Amino acid sequence: MSTDGHLRSEVYKIVTKTNDVISEDPYRLSYHLMPPVGLLNDPNGFIQYKGVYHLFYQWMPFKTGHGAKFWGHYSSTDLVHWKHEEIALTPSEWYEKNGCYSGSAIESNGEMYVFYTGNVKDEQGNRETYQCLAVSKDGFHFEKKGPVVELPAEYTAHFRDPKVWKQDDHYFMVVGAQTTDIKGAVALLRSNDMLTWNHLGVIAGGGEGLLADFGYMFECPDLFHLQGKDVLIFSPQGLEATGLNYQNVYQSGYVMGHFNSQEGSYNHGPFQELDRGFDFYAPQTTTDEKGRRILFAWMSVPDQNEQEHPTIKYHWLHNMTLPRELKVINNKVFQVPVKELEQLRVGEVFEHDVKLNAENREFEEVNGKTIEIVLEKIDVSSGFFSMSVGEAAKIIYSPKQGLFTLERQSYVDGVTEIRQCLLNHLDSMRIYLDTSSIEIFINGGEETFTARFYPVPSNNSVRFSSSEKSTFMIKKWKLAD
Ligand code: FRU
Repeated sequence: MSTDGHLRSEVYKIVTKTNDVISEDPYRLSYHLMPPVGLLNDPNGFIQYKGVYHLFYQWMPFKTGHGAKFWGHYSSTDLVHWKHEEIALTPSEWYEKNGCYSGSAIESNGEMYVFYTGNVKDEQGNRETYQCLAVSKDGFHFEKKGPVVELPAEYTAHFRDPKVWKQDDHYFMVVGAQTTDIKGAVALLRSNDMLTWNHLGVIAGGGEGLLADFGYMFECPDLFHLQGKDVLIFSPQGLEATGLNYQNVYQSGYVMGHFNSQEGSYNHGPFQELDRGFDFYAPQTTTDEKGRRILFAWMSVPDQNEQEHPTIKYHWLHNMTLPRELKVINNKVFQVPVKELEQLRVGEVFEHDVKLNAENREFEEVNGKTIEIVLEKIDVSSGFFSMSVGEAAKIIYSPKQGLFTLERQSYVDGVTEIRQCLLNHLDSMRIYLDTSSIEIFINGGEETFTARFYPVPSNNSVRFSSSEKSTFMIKKWKLAD
């Protein structure tokens, strides 16, 4: 049997073998994308191709750790209902033997081209990196064409995650990189045919400009035009926590500016974090046939605590965020859950006008494991307002400092940990709860907080509390499993 055939049959065996135990996990999510078994990380190759959304993902089927990654595959016609497909790429060739790492997809002449990083390591752990191409006529079966980009001399072998787009009759590729003097950078390449690529240089980071002192590696770059701006998303590694910022081990955010496709240059402003919660990394976007720019991110961060998640004993780990539509408002990227997610709502909405006066309140109708809660017309006079979810997560807002806080009980040692950001005002919150995840969209997506958390499975309660006067309007829907 070929290496590819062998790997596919091994994956099939482990999926079949672990199916029963995985479905018993009380923390298995109900409407988020997860791996059938093993570990999921970055979204890859996100594209709407011939009307169908394809979301590939970094997948380690054989354990809940990292390693020689596969490209797993989900497809959907509506961004809500997804089907798990056959594996798209297995790490079967010499140039990818330690992993078909992250990359992107683009359509050309009716075919789907995927670019990804072939990761190769020797016994001493020395790395080689190849930017590879695979082509598909149907979006499901891929023919590997092998490496199309060799490592340029300016970078170490930490050169990966190609994102490709077409602009002004050229193809462009951004690659996450580390320069030889160990600075995080985004490299730009150009091509006329997607087979031969020319390296044009560093367009962000590399020890220059506003990102001069900005970490040792940038992963998963994504450059796109949105509402008159060119937005460059990337995930820098090596930033020190400062004040409320950069609290996770690694960050994900963007700079905004102008990309000059003739010169292959990019002018940009300062870095801003995309999400303020505990678990958000390596986002990737695509445009769909409706012209929307849609983002998925990995709902985790690579860190030393990954193996502490309680889902490990059920042989799976991690999930994607919900798909979010991006908008630029006042030089800031807003994230809004895609409209289609309203299809998840089942039954009637529960609506209520709430007035709290130095009290705690619980509404029988506002509980559940898989729910959507919208708070509107929020008015917190002073003191603080809070909302607790199953006692394992809590949102707190204090208007005086303009401070918004998400607390959770650590899944490592139960200690309370926090993430915070400053707000000018708090008008509204849209919150998606799914068994062991929370996504909070503040003020129409101006800020988001994304996190895994693990409430006691029998505790479905949502409680509101106000130290002084708070008023808000609440809407709640149960969401379909
Ligand atoms: C980001 C990342 C990428 C790499 C992939 C490997 O989480 O480290 O840079 O391609 O994951 O799974």
